[in-house]
Amino acid sequence: MNKILINGKFVDEHEATVAYNDRGYNFGDGIYEYIRIYDGKLFTAREHFERMLRSASEIGLDLNDSVDDLISLVRELAEINHVSNGGIYIQATRGISPRNHAFPTPPVEPVITGFATAYQRPFKELNEGVSVVTTEDIRWLRCDIKSLNLLGNVLAKEYATKYNAVEAIQHREGIVTEGASSNAYAIKDGIVYSHPTNHLILNGITRQVIKWICEDENIIFKDEAFTVDFLKDADEVFISSTSAEVMPVVKIDGEDVNDGNVGAITRQLQKGFERYIDSHSVS
Ligand code: PDD
Repeated sequence: MNKILINGKFVDEHEATVAYNDRGYNFGDGIYEYIRIYDGKLFTAREHFERMLRSASEIGLDLNDSVDDLISLVRELAEINHVSNGGIYIQATRGISPRNHAFPTPPVEPVITGFATAYQRPFKELNEGVSVVTTEDIRWLRCDIKSLNLLGNVLAKEYATKYNAVEAIQHREGIVTEGASSNAYAIKDGIVYSHPTNHLILNGITRQVIKWICEDENIIFKDEAFTVDFLKDADEVFISSTSAEVMPVVKIDGEDVNDGNVGAITRQLQKGFERYIDSHSVS
C-alpha cells in the first residue's frame, strides 16, 4: 500500500483525501516540484526546493519549511515507500478556506501533499530519440512559477498525444518557448540554443545541469530565443526534464530532424548527465 504525504503525516493511499474547498483544488492556487531519485539518492534536491520556495514566494505563499526540512520530508517519503529509482511529487496549496478568489484573511495553513513513484530511466527513448509536435503557447505570462495551474500544458500535451508524439514544443508567434513539461533546445553549428529564463519558461533544473555540462565540456550554450523554422532546420534538437533527462528529438511535426538520427552533441550531453547523476545526488 502506497503511503501518501499529507501535512507531515504518511497515510495509506485510500485515506489520502483532500478537502473540496482546498484552494489548490478550487483555483489551482499552489505550487509543486518533481524530483528524481537515482539509486536511493535524491538528484539536485537542493536546487528543486530552492525553486519551490521561490515559486511559493512569487505567489505570496508562506511555507514554514526550509530547503533542508523539505529534503528530509521527501527522503522519508521515498524510504517509507521503498522507492529507490523513481520520482517524488510534492505540492503546496494556499490551504482550505470557503471559496473566495482573494487570499484568506487571516491566512490559513498551507496544505502539503506528496507521493513517490517507482520507475526506471527511459533508456529506449534516450537511445532512439522521440517525436514532438509544435503548437501555439496559450499559457499565462508567469511560466517561471511552477504553479498547479497547468491547463495550457495539459491541452498541449493532449495535442501531442493525439498525434503520437511525446511532447508538444510551444511557441509564441513563432518563437519557441518550451515543451508542455520540458525545456526545448536547438543545436546549430555546435552551439546549444535555449529560450532565456524569463517569465515565459520554467527555469528547469535539468536545464541548469545541461549548462554545467556545457561549461565542463567547452560547448557554447546561448540563452537565446529562436523560431520554429530554426528549430526544424537545426542540426540536433532535444528536450529536458527531471524525468526525460537529456531526451533527443528525431522528428518534429512528422519530419526528420537532420538525418533522423541522434546527434553527437546530444550524445555528449547525455554522457555528461550520467556523470552528474553520480556526482550530484543528495544521499
Ligand atoms: N515538469 N518546463 C515545464 C513547463 C515543465 O513542466 C518542466 C518539468 C520543465 C523542466 O524542468 P525540470 O528540469 O526542473 O524538471 C520545463 C515536471 C517534470 C512535471 O511537471 O512533472
